[in-house]
Amino acid sequence: MELVTKISGITLRNPFMNASGVLGQTVSLLRRLQEAGAGAVVTKSITYEERKGYDNPTFVKIKCGYLNAMGLPNPGFKEFSKELSSSKEEFKVPVIVSIAPSEPKQAKEMAATFKKVADAIEINLSCPHAEKLGLEVFSDMGLTENIVKSVKDNFDGPVFCKLPPYRNEVLGLIKSLESCDALVVSNTIRAMVIDVKAKKPILGNKFGGLSGRALHPISLALVFELYEKTRKPIVGVGGIESWEDAVEFFLAGASAVQIGSALEKKGTTIFKELIEGLEEYLKEEKIGLEELIGLAHDS
Ligand code: FUM
Repeated sequence: MELVTKISGITLRNPFMNASGVLGQTVSLLRRLQEAGAGAVVTKSITYEERKGYDNPTFVKIKCGYLNAMGLPNPGFKEFSKELSSSKEEFKVPVIVSIAPSEPKQAKEMAATFKKVADAIEINLSCPHAEKLGLEVFSDMGLTENIVKSVKDNFDGPVFCKLPPYRNEVLGLIKSLESCDALVVSNTIRAMVIDVKAKKPILGNKFGGLSGRALHPISLALVFELYEKTRKPIVGVGGIESWEDAVEFFLAGASAVQIGSALEKKGTTIFKELIEGLEEYLKEEKIGLEELIGLAHDS
């Protein structure tokens, strides 16, 4: 079955990509994702300046999923764009560069720099624990609007916005995203885990983001609602571990999905598993991927 899907003018050989931050830190990791079958690859969120990230521990497995607080470690946009430029021609699938600007001037410079090497830009408006970045930006409607506009004005390809999983905030602030082309739904849930013997939060940063199983039904509900409330294409993300989990997102209205925690858990072979599972399902159901998108809604 044909798995090609389109999102705002970019064509993906299949609807599966990595979630930003998972195996997207370097060009060689992005290459591995491409070789494993990803339909597009997404970089780690890149900031204006270099960031070292938080102290360890930065990742903890818990009963209902995973908590992480890496602290957006990255070499800064100038350095990363140099690395990407030198190997861009090796990519046969779209490269989506995730950026986390904290103000419009940064957004403008970053968008203009990545113009030559990115097929799309994903703006991180949802990291749940970084000062003046991600969620802190999104909570300011005017700031978000200006950042999105700065990226749109200085980049030729589609601009995606990665949102938090908090329904009321997203619906309340959705107007600030009018100029973006597609929504990525959703990032992790701000969360914490405490060591009862040490009597302290486990993560170096204390607060982190919850991903994995617990996130799946929450993101799914938001995708379903946003599909009805906006006309924008949606990329679903949250706890996808099997082709059935992905199909739920397509039925809710996502045109493509991103895989995060399951890539850590199962490795890059998950792409093959998802592709084969989806192909088989579409064959059995005698339906195309495009027809599946949004089918769980009343007509
Ligand atoms: O800690 C991190 O780098 C997480 C980023 C995010 O959730 O967007």
